[in-house]
Amino acid sequence: MKKNIKNLLAIALLFSVFFTVKAQDGAKLYKQNCAACHKIDKVSIGPPLKGAFDKWKEAGEEEMIFEWVANPTELHESGKSKMAKAIWDFSPMTMTPMAHLSKEEVAAIFKFADTPPVVEKKKEEVATTTNVTKAVPSPGFSTGTIVFLIGIIGFLIVALLVLMNGVKALKNKGNTEGKVKYDEEGFGFLTKSVAIEDEDSILLDHNYDGIQELDNVLPPWWVWMFYGTIIFTFIYWGMYQTFGVWPLQIEAYEMEVKTAEKEVYAYKEANGLLISAETVTVLTDESALAAGKEIFEGTCAACHKVDGSGLVGPNLTDKYWIYGGKIGNIFTSISEGRPNGMPAHKSQFNELKIQQIGSYVLSLPFAEGKEPEGDLMK
Ligand code: HEC
Ligand code: HEC
Repeated sequence: MKKNIKNLLAIALLFSVFFTVKAQDGAKLYKQNCAACHKIDKVSIGPPLKGAFDKWKEAGEEEMIFEWVANPTELHESGKSKMAKAIWDFSPMTMTPMAHLSKEEVAAIFKFADTPPVVEKKKEEVATTTNVTKAVPSPGFSTGTIVFLIGIIGFLIVALLVLMNGVKALKNKGNTEGKVKYDEEGFGFLTKSVAIEDEDSILLDHNYDGIQELDNVLPPWWVWMFYGTIIFTFIYWGMYQTFGVWPLQIEAYEMEVKTAEKEVYAYKEANGLLISAETVTVLTDESALAAGKEIFEGTCAACHKVDGSGLVGPNLTDKYWIYGGKIGNIFTSISEGRPNGMPAHKSQFNELKIQQIGSYVLSLPFAEGKEPEGDLMK
């Protein structure tokens, strides 16, 4: 009986692992593997995934799309796929090979891409508005739920068997004749060990050239820990995977990022720092220009010269601009930097300071210096 129960437990555990893997749906796989580069119905780094499968199918390349996902470069280089050839130059970036996904998993992703469930979107919306408390999606009866319930039922059956076994053991308790004498001193109940002088009671009757075996039971502390891990499995599985009551690590991370972004936004709003390249205006008041001048001479003059006439960097006082001479362009040049040697300054100065510097640059009178670079702008 005991042995049967252990076997059943092992099988239940295996089943739960198997089904957890199975129950992973397209949405999750998409999120984990593709979402970094693909949106469902918008162009991102890669093309939208919606309709991609049908497109390849219509071109008679239903099978090859799976080869593509497993290894885009290999399929393209083999030259046998028209679709791979057509999409190859979509981006200078090459798609990461996804050979670790099975064909079924990739098919599930395409299925999800073609019919993204509405629930998924709602969840996101709620998450952005409530932000901290995670939206609990209504469970419904998805495959995940059904599998989870089957798992619970299986677990209950096993628990019942264990209980019945326990009751039987209790019934036999008074009856000590021919029974094992467990050491009951102190923590003996945790180990169920048998004292040396009583070992006869658990000696098995085989004798291999004088080597004998004791039939010790598994120590109760270990057994209960083992049961504990099984119970934990169901709590973990249900709360994280099936019902999504607790956020997965990636979701928790995204929520934290969103909260932090909100805080940053609130801080900027409160301090008049909601200035961007789109909304920035030219400041003309003395104090702002003086503040800009101070920074310009301390930070920018090394490359643009104190009078702005250019050194390593271009002349900022002429009417020629490489990246545009509007305050918005200059704001971007300063905050984000430019490729040929202009460093980004956004980590050094806040939006207001960058606005002051930009305004000061525009106030600089023409100074003879470096030859004009870029285009003439009015
Ligand atoms: C690192 C970025 C990246 C990841 C991750 C990625 N892709 Fe791509 N994918 C691309 C790019 C870029 C293209 C366009 C081809 C090119 O420019 O080389 C593409 C093209 C495709 C195409 C062809 C689309 C068409 O319209 O013909 C399919 C299908 C596709 N990807 C599926 C997937 C799937 C499924 C996953 C996740 C398992 C995935 N991709 C993950 C970057 C990525
Ligand atoms: C390390 C040298 C260096 C420093 C410091 C530097 N710049 Fe530049 N800057 C450059 C170079 C080089 C370019 C040209 C970049 C290019 O062509 O891609 C440039 C370009 C620019 C442009 C764009 C010019 C155009 O024609 O479109 C502006 C505006 C500018 N810098 C302003 C500033 C300001 C304001 C500061 C101080 C906060 C500053 N730069 C600090 C080297 C520097």
